[in-house]
Amino acid sequence: MVNVEICIGSACYVKGSSQVVTAMKELLQKHNWEDKVNVKGSFCMKACQEKKGLGIKVNGKLIEGVTASNVSEILEKEIAVALL
Ligand code: FES
Repeated sequence: MVNVEICIGSACYVKGSSQVVTAMKELLQKHNWEDKVNVKGSFCMKACQEKKGLGIKVNGKLIEGVTASNVSEILEKEIAVALL
């Protein structure tokens, strides 16, 4: 099981965390990952303060450089690697 945490803090909300949720839902359906990926919300994980992009963790690791426009591509790759 891969654990994905999506920041629901206000700074990430302003930068487009709702698109992260949408992208995550699409990826789960596209790859049939519903039983393999556990998604939950998280409070601020300090990605915003350190200018590392939107707050997303995969198996506890902060994924840097995520934006509303590249989130789908980055998450797809990170989750595929985590599932290996
Ligand atoms: S509000 Fe999302 S990392 Fe800070």
